[in-house]
Amino acid sequence: MKNILITGGAGFIGSHVVRLFVKKYPRKNIINLDKLTYAGNLENLKDIENKKNYTFVKADVTDYKAISEILRKYEIDGIIHLAAESHVDRSIKDPFCFAKTNVIGTLTMLQAAKEYWGCNLANAKEMSKLHKFYHISTDEVYGSLEFNSSLFKETNKYEPHSPYSASKASSDHFVRAFHDTFGLPEVITNCSNNYGPYQFPEKLIPLVINNIEHNKPIPVYGKGLNVRDWLYVEDHAKAIDLIFHNGVVGETYNIGGLNEWKNIDIVKLLVKIVDEKLGRKEGASESLITYVQDRAGHDLRYAIDSSKLRNELGWKPETSFEEGIVKTVEWYLQNKEWLANVTGGAYQKYYKKMYLNK
Ligand code: NAD
Ligand code: TYD
Repeated sequence: MKNILITGGAGFIGSHVVRLFVKKYPRKNIINLDKLTYAGNLENLKDIENKKNYTFVKADVTDYKAISEILRKYEIDGIIHLAAESHVDRSIKDPFCFAKTNVIGTLTMLQAAKEYWGCNLANAKEMSKLHKFYHISTDEVYGSLEFNSSLFKETNKYEPHSPYSASKASSDHFVRAFHDTFGLPEVITNCSNNYGPYQFPEKLIPLVINNIEHNKPIPVYGKGLNVRDWLYVEDHAKAIDLIFHNGVVGETYNIGGLNEWKNIDIVKLLVKIVDEKLGRKEGASESLITYVQDRAGHDLRYAIDSSKLRNELGWKPETSFEEGIVKTVEWYLQNKEWLANVTGGAYQKYYKKMYLNK
């Protein structure tokens, strides 16, 4: 596949995937399609924006005409679809926006790809050699685990609880339906919580780092006992690269770091690391920890069994949590301008300045 379309490439995970592909595959054309919502930030890609094999296109994944034209114009062979609304708290406030982008947007991408590639059940085998539609999904579609129960496997039934996870579950079902009905060569991955550079500071880890640095209260939902399974974002990007090229069409792979943490323990660890890096006394920022009202429908525990991916494709995470969390804190403390632009809104002017000369 020579011309690869990555949607949502200006977001957190997407920008790491775009960077990896642009650098690793200089002879392939990487087209980053993004609407630049509040979560899209082209400053994430400053270091590669002038590379010859990189193109940015501003478009909305729900716009069928625009997507069809882009597929034709850039002769797209493969698609990695990450564009989505991604924050659970926002999905509780505005579920319609999640249905529109995550469900209708994915359906629009599927239909446009199917039409452009000319997929049908009769040519499915041939199509699977030429093209791939890779849908990036989440472990949250599986619902919530009790403590000490087994991990999410690919065979678990879908049991989403939040509007976010319901919208991602729905989009996964559409992807499989396009495979079964039209022979669209697809693959889906369900990944656990990511952390690392360029994450929008509404998510737990960057929010906590930012608040400690600025001496602001750290909101911990409920008792802080909910568990998440954290994976360093570059390890996710490497898994995406592997699966895009070697994943078997029609299959689903779970991606996770076997790295479960209670929220309160992560918060305390971040207090320790950030205080140390800022030269503050040990525990100086502990008083910022503030227990607040729990999230509605807050899933207790996510934990991923990624043995299928490990055994069949040979993937494993390269960055230990101890290393990744320190790297992440250092990145946010060193990239104060990025963080200030994001929290202050200046990042939204970057597209106009760089691409429209305004
Ligand atoms: P993000 O919110 O940081 O980025 C989403 C990107 O999609 C942004 O650049 C935004 O501008 C773009 N976008 C939103 N609506 C769009 C539209 N209508 N048209 C075109 N572009 C649009 O999200 P993220 O954390 O990088 O997540 C990326 C994908 O990975 C999502 O599909 C998410 O469900 C999935 N995922 C995320 C995590 C995680 O921990 N962050 C874990 C597993 C799976
Ligand atoms: P988040 O980063 O929003 O990811 P997700 O909800 O997709 O897992 O939240 C991670 C965990 O941290 C989740 O259990 C909710 C909790 N949380 C807080 O306690 N305080 C916060 O301010 C945020 C944003 C999250």
